[in-house]
This record gives sequence, structure tokens and C-alpha cells, in this order.
Amino acid sequence: MNIGIIVGSHRKDSQSAKVAGFLATRLRAFGVDVWTLDLGREPLPLWDEDLGSGEGQWEFLPGLTKKLQDSDGFVIVSPEWHGMATSALKNFFLLCNVNSGLAHKPAMITTVSVADGGAYVVAELRTSSYKNNRLCYIPEQLVVRNVAQVLNSVAEENNPEAHDYFVDRADYTLKLLMAYCDALISVRAHGAADLEKYPNGM
Ligand SMILES: Cc1cc2nc3c(=O)[nH]c(=O)nc-3n(C[C@H](O)[C@H](O)[C@H](O)COP(=O)(O)O)c2cc1C
Repeated sequence: MNIGIIVGSHRKDSQSAKVAGFLATRLRAFGVDVWTLDLGREPLPLWDEDLGSGEGQWEFLPGLTKKLQDSDGFVIVSPEWHGMATSALKNFFLLCNVNSGLAHKPAMITTVSVADGGAYVVAELRTSSYKNNRLCYIPEQLVVRNVAQVLNSVAEENNPEAHDYFVDRADYTLKLLMAYCDALISVRAHGAADLEKYPNGM
């Protein structure tokens, strides 16, 4: 099983990347191959009309598409910024059309807040971000509140009670994601999806 983690923060050393690193470690412990695209460290160009050219600033895109196509599922990590998902993450989804390798694959939303935010991003991603690429968000999500106090590699930096809760909750949600990764293989193999006839969702 191969899972891609997309980190939506624009910051080079973000708490979102910290959370993503923790989730990657847990997934690897469960025997999953993991790759990460950290949009803070590897920013993507903003969408423009030459997207499909594969030239100039878009030369990298076929390589990214191949990685997405080779993945069984995804973890989408976004901080809450001004009550929204980040521009970098929304741009990532603009670059992902129907053939980008996301279609009918499960994704686990993980939102990150330094305080008690995070819910707006869950709502936003579930409302928009999947229509044309047909990504399937699983019904459980992780909302990492007071992120500075949990999932740190230095134990003394953690609030023990909150940290233990998030470790358990992360394991639970990741195992559910893995179950959906297995289950949705049969949906893709079924033949019911016709992405050539209906390239855009309604
Ligand atoms: C531009 C900006 C806007 C932010 N807006 C919010 C917000 O609306 N709600 C919230 O809980 N935290 C907000 N934060 C704080 C983030 O929760 C905090 O930076 C946290 O570490 C997650 O972001 P990171 O992954 O970039 O580190 C904001 C941070 C920035 C830089």
C-alpha cells in the first residue's frame, strides 16, 4: 500500500509538516509506503493555461501525476488560515484534473490549529476540492487543536493527556484510511466510473 501525504502550509517549517511527519511514521509502522509533498518546501506554480503543456514551469507535473496515480490513498494536511484552507492547497487541487490519479481513491483530512480552530477547513474541503478529481474523503477526520502541545518528537514539549489522545485517534483514523484504500480498489476495478464520458463532476 502506498499513501501520499500533501502538506498545505506555505511555511517551510510548519506545524502541519510536523503532524505530517508523525502520521508518516505511524503509517510506515503499519507497513505502508509513504511519500510526502510539502507545499511549504516545494511550492507549486499557480495554475495557468499552459498547465497541460508539460513544458517550462509545468515540466514537473507528469512526475507528480505519476506519484499520485501510483498511490492508493492520501492524507491531506492543512492548517486553518483565516478560517480557510490555504491557497497552496487549493492551487494543488486546481492542478489535479480528472486524470491526475486522485479519482475514486480515499483521502483523510487532517487540519491543524495552534488554538481550537480547524473545523472550517474540514467543511471547506468537504464542500469543494473533490468535484472534478473525484477524491473520496473518508467520514473520519483528524482536527489537531493546540498543535504546539501534541505530536512533538521531544516528549517534554507535549501535553501528555492531549498527546496520548491524538496518538490514539491518529492510529484509529489512519487504520480506517487503510481499510478504505483496500475497499476502493474494487470500486475503481468495477467499471462503473466513466471519467471519459463525464470528465467534470456536476
Ligand atoms: C496567515 C495565517 C492565518 C491564520 N489563521 C488562523 C485561523 O483562522 N485559525 C486558527 O486556528 N489558526 C490560524 N493561524 C495559526 C495556525 O493555526 C498556526 O500557524 C499553526 O501552527 C498551523 O499553521 P502551520 O502549519 O503553517 O504551522 C493562522 C496562521 C497564519 C500564518
